[in-house]
Amino acid sequence: MIRTIAVLTSGGDAPGMNAAIRSVVRTALHKGLKVYGVQDGYLGLFKGEIRELKRGSVSEKLGQGGTFLGTARLDEFADIEVQKVALRNLKIYGIDALVAIGGDGTYRGALALSKHGFPVMTIPGTIDNDIGGTDYTIGFDTALNTIIEAADKLRDTSNSHRRCSIIEVMGRNCGDIAVWTSIACGAEVCITQQTGFDLDEVLANIREAAKHKRHAIVVVAENYVDIEELAQTITKKTPFEARATVLGHVQRGGRPTVRDRVLASEMGVKAVEALLAGETNHCVASVNNKIVTMPIEDALKKSEHADALNKYEIFKILW
Ligand code: F6P
Repeated sequence: MIRTIAVLTSGGDAPGMNAAIRSVVRTALHKGLKVYGVQDGYLGLFKGEIRELKRGSVSEKLGQGGTFLGTARLDEFADIEVQKVALRNLKIYGIDALVAIGGDGTYRGALALSKHGFPVMTIPGTIDNDIGGTDYTIGFDTALNTIIEAADKLRDTSNSHRRCSIIEVMGRNCGDIAVWTSIACGAEVCITQQTGFDLDEVLANIREAAKHKRHAIVVVAENYVDIEELAQTITKKTPFEARATVLGHVQRGGRPTVRDRVLASEMGVKAVEALLAGETNHCVASVNNKIVTMPIEDALKKSEHADALNKYEIFKILW
């Protein structure tokens, strides 16, 4: 019987995490449960940095960026001894189940706890949209809106100077952010690990753009090509001088969009309801506009790249 739950956020922060925490807390209180918040993800679980959350603890958090519980990356959580300390701390506070909000590392941490018999539920919170089994992760929409605002500004200055802007976006190994950005800002070139990189094609697209407009935009997913080197090649081999911009961590900040707030709110409710219905070792997902649950192991096995490939087909028609 679940009477007390804890919630944490882990891995890279994402706008909308606060909305998800609020939803978990408010749903749990509504169901008569006691709720604890864990500071800084699995690190706080290890250190025992756990505090009770009341209704007021999550007031005015819904629209705030970041995560008020804090977050961390803790590779050491793969160590069974570290997991045992975390389990001991959960026991000290009388916690019966844990809701963990984050990306695939967060999912693996929760899965490890569940293998010790501890009930867990995860919620996908990462700007990367790289969790298998869910159409959207919390934070993806806000990050895209932040990126598009920057891309539109870069277009203004590129256009004035007859330049090509190369924009490197986040996504770890997943091209979703890059492909969605490319469609939304009308880029000439989109380069990701999933869609590949063909220099001749890149140069051909830019030369084509130069025939009828004063600028070109190249969107590149991080960790794939050297954008400074690419800028030099474009400058040498096309009519446009190129400039490279790494958008960096600005993509992770900011107030969550309506879409992320609502997704986070729906997912938080589902997480608590599913735990109370006896589901454990599961994650919440958005599939075809419905909030569902599935085993964490199944989500981790599913491809997180299908959407990048589908959307790239659209990009290729429209560029
Ligand atoms: O997973 C979110 C993310 O922002 C990735 O897009 C990026 O590769 C990574 O985190 C950066 O991590 P950190 O903030 O630890 O440098």
